[in-house]
Order: sequence, then structure tokens, then C-alpha cells
Amino acid sequence: MIRSRIVGTGSYLPAQVVTNAELAKRVDTSDEWIRTRTGIRERRIAAEEETTSDMGTEAANRAVAHAGIAPSEIDLIVLATATPDMSFPSSACIVQHRLGIIGKPAFDLSAACSGFLYALGVADQFLRNRSARTALVIGAEKFSRVLDWSDRNTCVLFGDGAGAAILRAEEGERGILSTHLHADGTYADMLMVARSGSRNPITQELIRTEAEYLVMRGNELFRVAVKTLEEAVLEALAANGLQAADVDLLIPHQANIRIIAATAKRLGLPMEKVVVNLERYGNTSAASIPIALDEAVRTDRIRPGDHVLFESFGGGLTWASALLKW
Ligand code: ACO
Repeated sequence: MIRSRIVGTGSYLPAQVVTNAELAKRVDTSDEWIRTRTGIRERRIAAEEETTSDMGTEAANRAVAHAGIAPSEIDLIVLATATPDMSFPSSACIVQHRLGIIGKPAFDLSAACSGFLYALGVADQFLRNRSARTALVIGAEKFSRVLDWSDRNTCVLFGDGAGAAILRAEEGERGILSTHLHADGTYADMLMVARSGSRNPITQELIRTEAEYLVMRGNELFRVAVKTLEEAVLEALAANGLQAADVDLLIPHQANIRIIAATAKRLGLPMEKVVVNLERYGNTSAASIPIALDEAVRTDRIRPGDHVLFESFGGGLTWASALLKW
């Protein structure tokens, strides 16, 4: 059987650290509120001129080096982002050019925080049906660009960054066992950035209004997230005839420690089996899972044969899970 195996990972975080205390100087909040409600202590914010594709390229280069392959071996690039450099060309095409690859398919995928698992699911299909042999899957975001820095409800939650994985089609038991992608547009307005699309083109009137920034009904989102994530992880286990006890490591989307803990509790997983880094990076949307994966790989938290479970939830609404045998 052909499976997609992750043979290299990489990540990139911008240098600038913004602590909760620094945010408390800008908006009416406190380190204590942010830590206890979300688990976040600090986040990275990209430099003014640093783009989503810059960060994606850096993460991709590190993943390529880690996999020990030449960029020319990559025959598919899927880049998940909700904050592309521009409407088009895609950020994936810009990354492809920087890597010196010509002629192979490259495209962006929009599924907000679920973007990386969506991209993983899409690349897995290409590899398993032999349309590609080696895929580069990236999650890259510059959420700092779409935040209203005077809105304490949202500006404390997010950060910038990128992560990447190299997937290779291989015969055998190791690799992606299944991916499960879901969406429900009923809740489209629960989390959105309404500006600059065809519905709300940029006009003088729209500048500096709510339409320009991310808006979120956080409280409702929290409840839907806990419910759908539980369904998604149980679906992945059931699809593979596995029990929660078979999971060696859970790598969740890093939105809120209370959401992560609720899923771990539902599975009966001790927090030692859960990768958490949101205290350092906040919610980096589509980049959060590949950054967490890269850190887990580089700190030897994953061993060959381990069952690794991924789950994510985000704007759309979208939610997803994936199960891998490492
Ligand atoms: N500092 C201080 N007070 C704050 C802050 C802040 N930064 N933000 C909100 N508050 C206040 C609110 O104004 C509210 O005050 P009020 O009662 O006087 O009106 C109070 O705190 C409680 O607000 P809640 O929204 O009930 O707080 P909650 O405990 O739900 O925490 C949070 C809010 C952290 C946003 C939580 O609901 C959450 O994490 N939701 C999920 C969000 C999420 O995951 N979003 C990302 C999805 S991924 C993607 O696709 C990008």
C-alpha cells in the first residue's frame, strides 16, 4: 500500500517577541487575564516588510534540508494560509520560485486554522493516487496584518509564523493513515476578515472600520470548537480501529489551552502526550500545527511507529483531524 510519509519538517518564527505585558500597555488587558483564559504568554510578530511567503520559504528551506532532498524533487506545493501576500499570484507560486522549482503545481489553500490539515489531506490524495511523489505542505500566516490592535478581544490571541513538511509516497505501513476534513458555512460570520475580497472591495469608507480587521464571536466559537474537535478525533480513531490509548502524541491546533485540555480530557490522554507551544507563539492559524510538529520532531518527542493524532478548528467554520503512523 502507498502511504504519504513525513520525511522532513521545518519552521520559522519571526524574531520580534511581544509579551502580554507589552499588549497591556496598548489595550485594557493583563498578563493574568490572557494567561488564565488562553494559556498565551507571548507571541512573535513579523517585521513590517516580512511577508507570509518569506516565512513560508524559510520554513520550506528548513524542511527540505531536514529531509535531505533537493528542491527539484518536489513535485507539488500546497500552501495553507488565510493571510496570503496578495489576492494573486498565490503565495505558493512565490515560494516555488524562491525554491527554484519550475513547472510543478503550486497553489494556496484557504481553510483558516484548519488549513494545514486540509493541505495535508489534499497532498495525501495526490501522493496516494501517484500524481506526485514528493510534496511540500506549508502553513504560513501573518495574522498581525489583519488584527485590530485596539481590540482586546482578538489582538491578544494571534501571532505570526510558518511551518512546513515534506511528504513522500512510500510503500509500507508508516505514514498518513487517514485525514478527515469538515466544514459548515452556517457559521461563516463567527470568525472572519471581511475586507478586500469581491464583497467588500477596499474603499475610502471601509478603511479603519471593522470590515478591515478580524472579527470573532470567541465565546460561541469556543463551544463549537470543543464539540467538533471531539467528534473529529473520535472519527480518526474509529476509521483506523484504534482506541484513545493507542495515541502516542496529540498535536492540536494551538488556539486556547482550555480547548486543547478539553480534547485531551475527552480522550483520557495525559498532558505529557500533548504538544503545547501556544504560550510562546499564540494562535498562528494554519502555521500552528506544522510549527508544533517540527518542535516535536526536533526534540525527539516522536519515535518510529508512534501514532500521532492531529486536530484543528478554524474560520469557515472548518475542522479536521489526521492520524499518522510515524
Ligand atoms: N483582556 C481582558 N478582558 C478581556 C479580554 C482581554 N484581552 N478579551 C475579552 N475580555 C473580556 C470581555 O470583554 C468580557 O467582558 P464582559 O464580561 O465585561 O463583557 C470578558 O472578558 C469575558 O469574555 P468572554 O468572551 O466570555 O471570555 P472567554 O472566557 O470566553 O475567553 C476567548 C475569550 C479567549 C476568546 C475564548 O472564548 C476563546 O478562546 N474562544 C475560541 C477562540 C478561538 O479559538 N479562535 C480562533 C479560531 S481559529 C481560526 O480560524 C483563526
